[in-house]
Amino acid sequence: MEEDEKFNKLPGGIALVTGASSGIGASFARRLAAAAAGNEKYRGLPFFDELWLVARRGDRLAALAEELQATYSTKDDEKTLIIRTFALDLVAPNALAGLADKAKEQGKPVSILINNAGYGTYGPFAVINMDRQLGQIDLNCRALTEACSRFSPLLTKGSLVINVASLAGFAPLGGFAVYAATKAYVLSFSIALAVEWEGRGIRVHALCPGSVDSEFAQVASEGVRLKVAHGWSADKTTAHCLKQAGRGKAYSIPRLNWKLQRWASILAGPVQSARFANKFLVRPYRKPQQ
Ligand SMILES: NC(=O)c1ccc[n+]([C@@H]2O[C@H](COP(=O)([O-])OP(=O)(O)OC[C@H]3O[C@@H](n4cnc5c(N)ncnc54)[C@H](OP(=O)(O)O)[C@@H]3O)[C@@H](O)[C@H]2O)c1
Repeated sequence: MEEDEKFNKLPGGIALVTGASSGIGASFARRLAAAAAGNEKYRGLPFFDELWLVARRGDRLAALAEELQATYSTKDDEKTLIIRTFALDLVAPNALAGLADKAKEQGKPVSILINNAGYGTYGPFAVINMDRQLGQIDLNCRALTEACSRFSPLLTKGSLVINVASLAGFAPLGGFAVYAATKAYVLSFSIALAVEWEGRGIRVHALCPGSVDSEFAQVASEGVRLKVAHGWSADKTTAHCLKQAGRGKAYSIPRLNWKLQRWASILAGPVQSARFANKFLVRPYRKPQQ
């Protein structure tokens, strides 16, 4: 059976993207809106008629929703994608429970869940503010896990879950220690969930990109570095991911260069990988006031 036939049977559904106010999340939102309008095609992408965009900066989400609506709305109301925005801090108590309740009220399945919101912190572990480091665990790991749990009852045969991990998830990295550990968690959790949910006909995919142009570096360095070094296009990253996820792959590494880096870290082993990053991949960070 063709992938599209297998997975496009949902009667209607919600596609939800967290961290949609910038970077990779905003790009996922654009790709999905284009796919819903028939302008882009991804084999095996489940049908959805609502796009939910989540992040803290509601103004950014509203501007993106307006852009997408202006680009893709048709005169045919039945075909026009409904776009809703939710200005939410995903680590706030009850944020995800409330969002899942809202989805339940729609009486539709969640066709696509993209857990993309996340951030990193550059710099030595003992020097970087502890709350920012722990916040990564709360958002990158805890909120992502909670989202999978809260939305699980709304996922159905054919649904697709994409968890944004990172190339950093394949090896420990000195100078980026907590972030790499959170992404190792996301990668491990996602692949295990992909296997557990196979029987439910739900696909789970971990996206593992290297450096991508976004606001990531600005946040990770607290404004000291504006862009990641050698960043790749967020649009190419998300297009590749949707293709691989639609085919049922459990994880993807979108570029050859990144695949080679992964193999190099396997050959070097975890200790040498961490040492190499600590010595040669030093990322700029804001030094605390003396
Ligand atoms: N860029 C890279 O090189 C790279 C490489 C590998 C993996 N990744 C991963 O890709 C994902 C997206 O990052 P990005 O590169 O696109 O960075 P980005 O441009 O900084 O985007 C991060 C997104 O997460 C949202 N977010 C942060 N904290 C949040 C919170 N507490 N509640 C809700 N939303 C929150 C941000 O929105 P608000 O600030 O509006 O809340 C923003 O939309 C992350 O998981 C990151 O770890 C990035």
